[in-house]
Amino acid sequence: MAKIKICYLNVYESHLFPLTTLLNEHNESLEIYQTKIGSVGSWCWESAICLAEYCYDHMFNQFKNKRIVEIGSGTGVVGVQLCALGGNVTLTDREEYLELINYNIKKNQQVLTGQAQAKTLFWGDELNENDDCFQNLDFVIVANCVYHSIELDELIKTICNLCPENSQTCLLCCYELRSDGIRRLVNEFHQKLIEKKFSIQYIENKDFREKYQNDYNAIVKCQR
Ligand SMILES: C[S@@+](CC[C@H](N)C(=O)[O-])C[C@H]1O[C@@H](n2cnc3c(N)ncnc32)[C@H](O)[C@@H]1O
Repeated sequence: MAKIKICYLNVYESHLFPLTTLLNEHNESLEIYQTKIGSVGSWCWESAICLAEYCYDHMFNQFKNKRIVEIGSGTGVVGVQLCALGGNVTLTDREEYLELINYNIKKNQQVLTGQAQAKTLFWGDELNENDDCFQNLDFVIVANCVYHSIELDELIKTICNLCPENSQTCLLCCYELRSDGIRRLVNEFHQKLIEKKFSIQYIENKDFREKYQNDYNAIVKCQR
C-alpha cells in the first residue's frame, strides 16, 4: 500500500502548549507538549490521558524495567507516562512525528526513570529482525489508533508481529467511541484480534478518573 505522507510537523516553540496533569513515580510533574499545527497525532487524545492516568492509578508497579513499545504514539503521552513509571519504552509513529516525540522525551528527561527512544514504525511494514527493541515485549500500547478502516489490517499485522502467539505480551488499547462508525470499527478490530487468538478484557470505567467516566472512553487489555 502507498504510504500517505501527512503534513510535515515542525515543532516550533510558539505552536506548542503543554499538558501537565501527569506525574512520574516520585510524583514529579511531566509536561507533554502538543502542537497547534499538524494532524491527529499532534495533540493528546482524551482517552490516551485516561489510559496514562489509569496506568498510574492501577498499574503503578507493573512497568518498572519492562520492555514496552507504543505504536501511533503521536505526542507520546502514554509512552512517556510509562517511562516515568520506570518502563523502557520505544515510542513509534510515522516519521513526521518523531520530532514531536523526541521533543517530549527531551523535555521530560529529568523526570523519566526508564529509558525512552523514538523510532519510525509504519503499520504493516516488516519489523527489523535485528532491532532488539521490538522483541520479547512486556507491553504494547495502542492509543486511539482505530479510526481508519483502510489501515486496520496493517495495524493488526504490526500488533501480531509485536505480540507473538503464546507470548506474555500484554496489549493495552484505548479508544474514544464517539460515533457509531468508530464503535463499528473498534468491534471489527476486536473481531480481527480474536481471530488472531487474542482475548479481550474491558476495563470497567469506574476505574477511570471521574472526568473520564463517560460513554465514549474505553480501555481494553488483551493477551494472545
Ligand atoms: C489519533 S492519533 C493518536 C495519537 C496518540 N496515540 C494519542 O492517543 O494521543 C493516531 C496516531 O497514529 C499514527 N498513525 C496513523 N496511521 C499510521 C500508520 N500507518 N503507521 C504508523 N502510524 C500511524 C498517526 O500518525 C497518529 O499519531
